[in-house]
Amino acid sequence: MNKLLVSLVLSLGMAGSAYAQEILVGDAEAGAGKVAICAACHGPDGNSLSADFPKIAGLGEKYLYKQLNDIKAGDRVVIEMTGMLNNLDEQDLRDIAAFYDGQTHAPGVANDAELVARGEQIYRGGDLATGLPACTGCHSPTGKGNDPAGYPLLSGQHAKYIATQLTSFREGERANDGESMVMRTIASRLSNKDIEAVSAYIQGLR
Ligand code: HEC
Ligand code: HEC
Repeated sequence: MNKLLVSLVLSLGMAGSAYAQEILVGDAEAGAGKVAICAACHGPDGNSLSADFPKIAGLGEKYLYKQLNDIKAGDRVVIEMTGMLNNLDEQDLRDIAAFYDGQTHAPGVANDAELVARGEQIYRGGDLATGLPACTGCHSPTGKGNDPAGYPLLSGQHAKYIATQLTSFREGERANDGESMVMRTIASRLSNKDIEAVSAYIQGLR
């Protein structure tokens, strides 16, 4: 067992009023030893070459940990990963999240210029007419996301994967975006053409 327990003692001003809390912290080095089975689809460093599998390098430790928990619990259905996380405990998932977050996300290339131009409009400006917010507000202008907030890095991701996720959010098939339903609401304002365009833009974003 490679439990990394950090004991945090917060002293609250007045004499004697202190409490201790145990916090599990991800250990990327330990994580490297737990991902052999993942490489077949996601690549050894998390930069899958096949558009059938998402790149998971550098997405953000908080986001990755949440997805692993959700997938394990069945709150997000990934059929290809059925059963794979069953024997991993909370510490394992934290270590794996730390490992992949520590890998450098490989950039991608945008293909269709016309589609990309429309995608850029959506990503940067949203759409006033439909009340669609710009993606930049949460995922950042360069698409690197916001790790502490749990907003994933998007830039360089396979367009095919981004489009699948936006469609799944829109159809309510992916519903692990929490009670605020932030991505389900946003995706409900995107047409198929919009999804195609913004996904093409994100693939080449850096
Ligand atoms: C047989 C192929 C396969 C294997 C092996 C596999 N995955 Fe996946 N994984 C997928 C697919 C496909 C998806 C995306 C499914 C979807 O469209 O939502 C995914 C999604 C993910 C995601 C979410 C990515 C995101 O951007 O939200 C994470 C994290 C992840 N996998 C981690 C792992 C880890 C860790 C392992 C090893 C324990 C692993 N996967 C093994 C196929 C695989
Ligand atoms: C208010 C903040 C916010 C805005 C604005 C926002 N997102 Fe998100 N997005 C999130 C959060 C939070 C998640 C993670 C949900 C979860 O935990 O599964 C997410 C996840 C995603 C994912 C899944 C990534 C993956 O690796 O599976 C995609 C794709 C995405 N957003 C695209 C977009 C696009 C495109 C826009 C603009 C049209 C946008 N988002 C605007 C907060 C936001």
